[in-house]
Amino acid sequence: MTKSSTVFSCQNCGAQSPKWMGRCPECGQWNTYIEEAASEDIKPARSSMAPAANFTPTPLPEISSDKSAHRPVGIGELDRVLGGGLVPGSVTLIGGDPGIGKSTIVMQALGSITSASKVSNQQGRKVLYISGEESAPQIKLRAERLGVDQQEIFVLTENCLERLLEEIKKLKPSIIAVDSIQTIYSNNITSAPGTVSQVRESAGQLLYYSKASGTSTMLVGHVTKDGAIAGPKVLEHMVDTVLYFEGERGHPFRLLRAVKNRFGSTNEIGVFEMTGKGLKEVLNPSSLFLAERPEGAAGSVVVASLEGSRPVLVEIQALVTSSGFAQPRRTAIGMDSGRVALLVAVLEKIVGLHLNDQDIFLNVAGGLKVNEPAVDLGIITSITSSFKNKPIDPHTLILGEVGLTGEVRAVSGIEMRLSEASKMGFKRVLMPRSNTKVKPPKGMEAIGVATVEECLSFI
Ligand code: TYD
Ligand code: MG
Repeated sequence: MTKSSTVFSCQNCGAQSPKWMGRCPECGQWNTYIEEAASEDIKPARSSMAPAANFTPTPLPEISSDKSAHRPVGIGELDRVLGGGLVPGSVTLIGGDPGIGKSTIVMQALGSITSASKVSNQQGRKVLYISGEESAPQIKLRAERLGVDQQEIFVLTENCLERLLEEIKKLKPSIIAVDSIQTIYSNNITSAPGTVSQVRESAGQLLYYSKASGTSTMLVGHVTKDGAIAGPKVLEHMVDTVLYFEGERGHPFRLLRAVKNRFGSTNEIGVFEMTGKGLKEVLNPSSLFLAERPEGAAGSVVVASLEGSRPVLVEIQALVTSSGFAQPRRTAIGMDSGRVALLVAVLEKIVGLHLNDQDIFLNVAGGLKVNEPAVDLGIITSITSSFKNKPIDPHTLILGEVGLTGEVRAVSGIEMRLSEASKMGFKRVLMPRSNTKVKPPKGMEAIGVATVEECLSFI
C-alpha cells in the first residue's frame, strides 16, 4: 500500500513543506502555499529531459550537429526572436499579460507554418491547436479574422492531459500549440488545474512527447501580477525557449522578447503592431517610435538603443516641474529608476543644477523599455532641456554612457547606431569622444564630448 499524504507547495517557486506556511522561506512570497498530493503519490513525469538515443558516452566530435535545425515560421519578427525559427523537438513558452495577443500570435504562427509547407509541397505538416480556454467556434472566428490558411490546422478543446496526449499520438501533428498550460490537468494528480504539480506534470509530459517525437511545441503561459510566468519557476527551467510578450495598455505596439533561448540569442526583440487583422510586423521600429515626436519641444531627446543586433531610435521625454512636496517625485517609465537617480545626482553635484525642489518625470515614448547605459547622456540632456526650458535640435542624436564623475564613456555598436540615425534623417550626433575614431555616415556631423558639461554646452 502506498502512503497517502499531502504536502504544501509554494505556487510561486515550487518549494514544499509538510505544513502550511504564510510566507515561503525560499522565495519570500506571501500566501502561496497550497495543499497538494505528496510527490510519492504522483506518478512523476517520465523525464523532463530528452530521451537519449544511446546510453553510452559518445566522443563529442562524433556527434553530428544539426546546423539547419531551425525551421522558419515565416513571420520575420517571430523568427528573429526564436533565433531563426522553431527547432524540431523543442518546447517554447510564450508568456504575457491577458489580452496582449498570445493566442493571436500562436494562431498566426500556425497559419504561417501550414501555408509555407503548402508552397514547398511538404506533406503532413499538420498542426494542432489545443485550447483549454476558448471554444472551437471562438477559435474559428479568430482564425477567420486573422485570415490564416485553415486547411491543415486542427483544433482540440480539451483540458485533460491524458486525453489530449492520446489525440496527439493519433494525429501526429508537426507542431502543437497549447493555450494555456495552466488550464491543462492530469488525472494522476488530485490538485486543481494551474497548481504547481499540475503545471509541472502537464508540461513534463508534453516535453517528453515533443523530445521523443521531434514535434515542436508552443505553450502559452499566464503571468502573475508581478509579470512572472504563473506556476512554478521550474516551468521556465524545463522548456527550451521562453518568450515574453510586452506592451503598454492602450498602445498598439507589442514587443516579443526572449528571456531564455537554448537555440539562439536572448537579446533580440520582435516588434509588432496589433491591428484589426491581428499582429502586423513592424519592419522599421525607429520610424514607429519617432512617429509622434513633438519636434522642438523642451525635454524631448532622441537616443539610439541597441536591441540585439538591431539599433532602434527612441524618444526620451522629461518633464521637470517645481515640486510642492518636501520629497520631490522621481518617476521613470521604461527605464531603470536607480539609474535615473544616479544621473540626477550627477546633474546636481557635477553640473550644479538645483533639482532638489523639482519633480522629475521621465518616459520612453511608445512603451519601449531601454536599459542600456548608452542612453544615459540622452536622459541627462532631456532632464536639462526640460529644466531650462530649452528645446534640443530635433535632428540631433545623443549617445553616451555617463560615469559618476560626469565623464562620458564609450558605447558599443556605434556604427550601427549612427547609420540608423542617418537613415532617419539625423544631421548631428553628440557622442563620446573616445568613439569619434568611427567616421559618421555622409551628411552627418559627429561631435565628440568627454564630459556631461561639455555635452550640455551644445544644447
Ligand atoms: P489574444 O490573442 O486573445 O490575447 P491573449 O491570448 O494574450 O489573452 O488577443 C486579445 C486582444 O487582441 C483583444 O483585446 C482583441 C485584440 N485583437 C485585435 O485587436 N485584433 C485581432 O485581429 C485580434 C485577433 C485580436
Ligand atoms: Mg488567449
